[in-house]
Amino acid sequence: MRGVELDKIYCADCRAMREVDDDSVQLIVTSPPYNVGKEYTQHRDAMELREYLAFLKQVWQECTRVLCRGGRLAVNIANTGRKPYVPLSAYIAEQLFDLGLLMRGEIIWDKGPSVGISTAWGSFARASNPTLRDVHEYILIFCKESYKLEQTHGKESGIANLEFVEWTKSVWHQPEDQITDAGKTMWRFDTLSKKRDRNAPDHPAPFPIDLPMRLMLIYTNIGDIVLDPFMGSGTTALAAKLTHRHFIGYEISQKYCQIAEERLQKFVPGERLVPPPKLKKTRVKKSRRAAGEESPTR
Ligand SMILES: C[S@@+](CC[C@H](N)C(=O)[O-])C[C@H]1O[C@@H](n2cnc3c(N)ncnc32)[C@H](O)[C@@H]1O
Repeated sequence: MRGVELDKIYCADCRAMREVDDDSVQLIVTSPPYNVGKEYTQHRDAMELREYLAFLKQVWQECTRVLCRGGRLAVNIANTGRKPYVPLSAYIAEQLFDLGLLMRGEIIWDKGPSVGISTAWGSFARASNPTLRDVHEYILIFCKESYKLEQTHGKESGIANLEFVEWTKSVWHQPEDQITDAGKTMWRFDTLSKKRDRNAPDHPAPFPIDLPMRLMLIYTNIGDIVLDPFMGSGTTALAAKLTHRHFIGYEISQKYCQIAEERLQKFVPGERLVPPPKLKKTRVKKSRRAAGEESPTR
């Protein structure tokens, strides 16, 4: 045993997660630096592409080592650049295939109105050189050795039927009709930014808590262990607390570790932020059918 402490963020380099045992983690949820020149305190976010991919490969190797049989890896990533366009989602998927991981699918995160759509049109309304403006990111879902989660610490995931039906769709976005009186929505999935939300953490690239929370509810049971090797401001740790999972985090920056600790200290255990909706009886039947494990046929 390496003696990992659960529910702790290690202020260390995730290329060597020495504290974590082999085959011990049910889910890894993470978003690596995108190599787009963000100003992280301890990480150089503008490497030459080959160097950047070599860096990521070391992290995926460690992730593969610590995942249990059937354990899942969910990587949130965006494609970057324009000239040339850099399909990071494809490069990372290839790296994970090379490590022998099995792909389960990919989720398109539609960032909707929250994305600051760039006005870099290229040639506006002219065919000479128009530019596509990405309003989405990816969450790549892989697993180790088996599609079935073969080692778990619990029996129940705690996901509601309607959540399962909606969140196992491959596009996550914000349908208008889900907006509640409070202006909050079950599916709200904005990007986080200090400019729009003064409660957002002081970090250059946090993801919304819904992202790790949904993945935990879909892919793990209560009591399971979730790892984030790029913990940043601690969002994955908060989601683990909300959903009653254990977390392990790695983060190289002391400043972000401290921000994460402060967020965790302020966290009040109890109900999930937005409680799961109740299904009407008639819809339960439909949901069960929709949630069947068979592949869809055309
Ligand atoms: C995209 S951010 C993750 C943000 C996080 N999901 C959140 O919600 O705050 C990537 C993080 O990886 C950290 N990082 C970069 N290189 C690292 C390394 N070698 N080991 C651990 N953390 C690293 C950066 O400091 C940064 O906080």
